[in-house]
Amino acid sequence: MKFAKVLTTAAVAAALTATSAVSAKELFEKADDAINYRQSAFTLIRFQFGDIRAMLKGESPYDQQKMEMRADNLAHLSKFPWEGFIANTAKGEVKVKTAALPGIWKDQADFKKLSKQFQKNAKALAAAVRTGDKGAIKKAVGGVGKTCKGCHDNYKD
Ligand code: HEC
Repeated sequence: MKFAKVLTTAAVAAALTATSAVSAKELFEKADDAINYRQSAFTLIRFQFGDIRAMLKGESPYDQQKMEMRADNLAHLSKFPWEGFIANTAKGEVKVKTAALPGIWKDQADFKKLSKQFQKNAKALAAAVRTGDKGAIKKAVGGVGKTCKGCHDNYKD
């Protein structure tokens, strides 16, 4: 039965997401897949954040609806890259190009803390955007930007 099969697939997918820490390895067949996954997530993140900043600076026309869409996208996407940081995929450990430094795996608690801070600040930005108050939005953008830089300075080549 087709319907039953769809349900089963959905249930399996839900179970996998729920136990992401354990299943991350099985989600990706090869190291390349995991690296591609996290880099793709960051590419999407950069695009959302870049457009938000451009609108704030007046480099592109300010559009409240678009701003909300971008900020919501960013808040969602801020949860994405982390699953792709599976073991043994640091720069120097794999053939494929990656800028992920070994420190990520040496100091996992700190990396996790920074990733959580980013997620928190992205969520705060989405809320600030809803107010339409440019001062508040600018401040929240600054908060997000700090978390990008803070992590890149320590963990990205
Ligand atoms: C907690 C750490 C962390 C945070 C927060 C973070 N990044 Fe990164 N970012 C990384 C790491 C590590 C890489 C390298 C990934 C790789 O090459 O495997 C990376 C890579 C990237 C890349 C390159 C992707 C590619 O195609 O190679 C871009 C663009 C990027 N980040 C943008 C951002 C932006 C914009 C923010 C904030 C809005 C951000 N990052 C927040 C750790 C972080």
